[in-house]
Amino acid sequence: GTDTPTDTVSDTETATAESVVPSNVVIGSDIPYRPFEYETTSGELTGFDVDIAQAVFEDQLGVNYEFKPTSFDSIIPSLNNGNFRIIMSAMTINDTRDEKVDFSDPYFTAYQTIIVRADSSISSRGDLEGTVVGVQKGTTGANAAEELQSDFDGNIELNRYDQIPAAFQALKNGQVSAVINDNTVNAEFASQEDNIEFIEGEGAAVEAGQDAPPYLTLTVENYGIAFREDDSEFLERVDEALATIKNNGTYDEIYSEYFSG
Ligand code: ARG
Repeated sequence: GTDTPTDTVSDTETATAESVVPSNVVIGSDIPYRPFEYETTSGELTGFDVDIAQAVFEDQLGVNYEFKPTSFDSIIPSLNNGNFRIIMSAMTINDTRDEKVDFSDPYFTAYQTIIVRADSSISSRGDLEGTVVGVQKGTTGANAAEELQSDFDGNIELNRYDQIPAAFQALKNGQVSAVINDNTVNAEFASQEDNIEFIEGEGAAVEAGQDAPPYLTLTVENYGIAFREDDSEFLERVDEALATIKNNGTYDEIYSEYFSG
């Protein structure tokens, strides 16, 4: 989005402006989205985003943080309605969203990927024509599936689920033939299941010259922390903290806890 220059901010806006760095930051997030935000078997919230929040907010900025579970499909209106201060939810930075929020610098690269049942006859993108594909509502995975739908002249059905575990369950049950979703989240699920595998092939990541995962990638995306458009001073402080943890090894430590690379 566009930043409002401070010299055009009206008096009322100045009067009601939130402090630049609050003492407590409430973070909207759709949970579970493993390995980014999920509960351990003992009910403790954990994940890559949670550890990054700990490092950025508590350790760098001295701010308490708290995750507030929120439906992903309405998470941006919810931010703009004031239900929480920021969004950290493995959220991809894109132009549509950037019209409604401001994003931090990117903190993670992801790809849309397709998982299927290993014992199914689907092994390529083209095999998806005429099938039912599961996605999470309001996600870039849903957008990628819609693109496939138009490539196949509408000859693919989409089942949209409120949360990703329901899409995964539908894939196991045979209610959908594939799920299109972020690579590391699909990989986490596939690693726990004998009968789930990726559609292989090259794709967007290879085209972009990226150190690509060994399966078909439909997009290249970057995650960012989302802020309201009137919160640019806080955003700047968060970008500085992100840069610090990328430079001092903290980011890499967190990364290697969740991803073997
Ligand atoms: N990266 C995808 C997107 O931004 C999916 C994010 C879903 N996140 C979640 N916590 N459920 O659309």
